[in-house]
Amino acid sequence: MDYQIPTSSTQDRPTDGHNVIPNSGRTVPAPIAMEDIEHVAPTRWSYSPSVTKIKITKVSHMRYRHPSSGIDDLITFLLDFGMEVVKRTEKAIWFGGYGIDQYVYYAEIGEEKEFLGGSWEVESWEDLERASKLGNSQIIELKDAPGGGHLTTVRDPEGFPVNFVYGATPRPQPTKQPAEALQVNDEFSKPRKGAFQRFQPGPAAVHKLGHFGLTIHDFELQFQWYTSHFNLVPSDILYAQDDSGQKSDVAAFLHVDRGKEYVDHHSFFFSVAAAQHVHHSSFEVHDYDSQNMGHYWLKQKGYKPVWGLGRHKLGSQIFDYWWDPNGFMVEHYIDGDLVNENTPTGRQPAGDESLAVWSEPVPATFLD
Ligand SMILES: [Fe+2]
Repeated sequence: MDYQIPTSSTQDRPTDGHNVIPNSGRTVPAPIAMEDIEHVAPTRWSYSPSVTKIKITKVSHMRYRHPSSGIDDLITFLLDFGMEVVKRTEKAIWFGGYGIDQYVYYAEIGEEKEFLGGSWEVESWEDLERASKLGNSQIIELKDAPGGGHLTTVRDPEGFPVNFVYGATPRPQPTKQPAEALQVNDEFSKPRKGAFQRFQPGPAAVHKLGHFGLTIHDFELQFQWYTSHFNLVPSDILYAQDDSGQKSDVAAFLHVDRGKEYVDHHSFFFSVAAAQHVHHSSFEVHDYDSQNMGHYWLKQKGYKPVWGLGRHKLGSQIFDYWWDPNGFMVEHYIDGDLVNENTPTGRQPAGDESLAVWSEPVPATFLD
């Protein structure tokens, strides 16, 4: 029982707490937050020290093909989602956020819709060459793309396209950001004195691509490929358990290993499911108010929500998932965890409860 009812009206109130056990939130160092769960040793993903891994610096942009008949609807949606059109040709559109990436979303204009892969920026030309050899694929110059650069597209063992880019000129850091940090008053700390909160409704401006994920069939095959060829390291692994108690891994959230440098808890994930497809791509927005204003902006325009807002457990992000007009899922997120080489890798059971701390119940469409 969560409530302690005083037995006498004269009973003193406790001085070290409250009679009701309330909800609470704390910021906890990762090793303490993970002390009750299994930790996974690096031997799980360090296969051969003699293999030179292709060094990824970060995830840069998503690539999709959309049917030309639906391209105007897609543009309207992505503008309402908080991106802007950076460049348009007859064959493609590049959508940008307000971060240093020239673009965060590339839409090829074609016949049928198709997932064309997430794109990883690599550290050097040699890394790009190694990726092209791995896939026996050509390196092409991104002549039309803002910022230029070169790209090669490789297929993973289940046939998903994976893109690597090098040499694109970053966008100069914008001098003015669309959103600024609010002063927030809580019950004890009230830094905002004599000043008011004022807002302008509109789309939640997209800062950058944060992560994307796939639903796959063969966990071990994919896990080995992604972690042996690239500096991708799991932050968290989820397992399923059969009747005999045998555990088998079914999902992984992976970060780009940059040593001591702190990076996003996951830039990529995959999860075993009945159908193989891109699950979603996720874009960072400014804060909780901008995310909520963005949510109601999309709702008022009649777009289809998937799930959110809520807070994820693994990675801690506050999430908000939507369908684009062509049936690809996209997410706005804020407040994700950062990890580095000293952060343990956790392993715990898969299940709805591992998905969110608070939210509406997860809809079946999210799990397909
Ligand atoms: Fe996500």
